Amino acid sequence: MITHNRDLSVDFCGVRFPNPFVLSAAPPTDDLDMVRAAFDSGWGGAVLKTTSVETEPVQLVYPMMSAVHYDGRRIVGLGNIDLISEHHIDVVERRAETLKREYPDRVVAVSIMGSKKDEWQTLVKRLEAVGVDIIECSFSCPQGSMGEEPGAMLAQSIDATERVAGWVKAAAQRCPVVIKITPQVTNIVKVAEAVKRGGADAICAANTIPALMGLDVDTYVPYPNVNGRSTYSGLSGPAIKPLTLRTLAEIARQVELPITATGGPVTWRDAVEMMLVGATTVQFCTAVMHYGYDIIDDLQDGLAFYLEEKGFAHPADITGRALGNIVNHAELARDHKVISALNKERCVKCDLCYIACRDGAHQAIKLGQTDRVPEIDPDRCPGCRLCVTICPADALSIVAADGS
Ligand SMILES: Cc1cc2nc3c(=O)[nH]c(=O)nc-3n(C[C@H](O)[C@H](O)[C@H](O)COP(=O)(O)O)c2cc1C
Repeated sequence: MITHNRDLSVDFCGVRFPNPFVLSAAPPTDDLDMVRAAFDSGWGGAVLKTTSVETEPVQLVYPMMSAVHYDGRRIVGLGNIDLISEHHIDVVERRAETLKREYPDRVVAVSIMGSKKDEWQTLVKRLEAVGVDIIECSFSCPQGSMGEEPGAMLAQSIDATERVAGWVKAAAQRCPVVIKITPQVTNIVKVAEAVKRGGADAICAANTIPALMGLDVDTYVPYPNVNGRSTYSGLSGPAIKPLTLRTLAEIARQVELPITATGGPVTWRDAVEMMLVGATTVQFCTAVMHYGYDIIDDLQDGLAFYLEEKGFAHPADITGRALGNIVNHAELARDHKVISALNKERCVKCDLCYIACRDGAHQAIKLGQTDRVPEIDPDRCPGCRLCVTICPADALSIVAADGS
């Protein structure tokens, strides 16, 4: 149940979202009743899982999921070897029409993938005819490719990205066109520029990261084990959030295009971070697959209270607000001297900061002879912040070296 009464609506390419929280193209949007349940819970929009023309073969393999667990936490990262939806456009267009009729105030987007110009354009026309709000084009699906290299994703080719974005845009009479890219490229800005040159209205950044999820050291088979063999997975979830943030910032700093973010958000705070570096809406997948649709309550409440506390009227007021604070390394202050400081009351005497500083940093921490409380040597500590990141009790912080 949500407790706020703030207007969280946003405008994205002329489409009004009741809130900026959207389900990305993935299993949580691959079934009509599931999307109904999501909309009943309060999600602002949904991108129906990537569909294709009826003649496109889609053969899934199972099992398709594996995960990175770390230090007792499940699903730090989720890996999948899923493909696009098994449901073709004939099924998806009926679902989209039904959802638009039943939930006119929610945004229904559909993700599409074609392998030829007429397929892309047919998909667009059929979806516009049933009233979808937004067309999202998957240029980063593991299946099919119109790029220059066999096996490469479409968005890994600058020329193909521009060309296919142009085809889709030429076919779209009414709907904004969003291009979903891959972060697995040398220069994300060049891809975003190609999306813009192709005439698309917005960019969806940045999808899963290609990964090998781990190996069974007894059988030598990577995860997930599909009858004795495996392949590369798409890594999603909290592990990839920092990569997504960087991708968003890179695009937002250099290319003028509205952005819908995807890759790693779990909490309202994650979503706010993505908005601060340029996103207008934020898409969720792994967090919903892990915790369910009801996380939308916390997302809405958290954002509402954050805006209230900071004195912002609308979610759009925070979009891009952090970008001015991101500079190239050469532009960072060289004359800013800092040092670690210890809050003795919080210290649990675990020795972890001492060990890390001794073997991984500047040997600037000693342990008290009798009480084992860390002591920071101001002549050796440059304030690298390793100890702060390691301390499990938040007993360390970085302060100005001159005490100011
Ligand atoms: C099992 C699974 C299937 C997915 N299928 C699609 C798809 O069909 N089309 C697409 O564009 N993205 C697909 N994705 C990617 C998600 O939409 C999303 O961009 C990605 O998981 C990163 O977001 P997250 O960290 O919130 O999960 C899929 C992701 C998962 C986990």
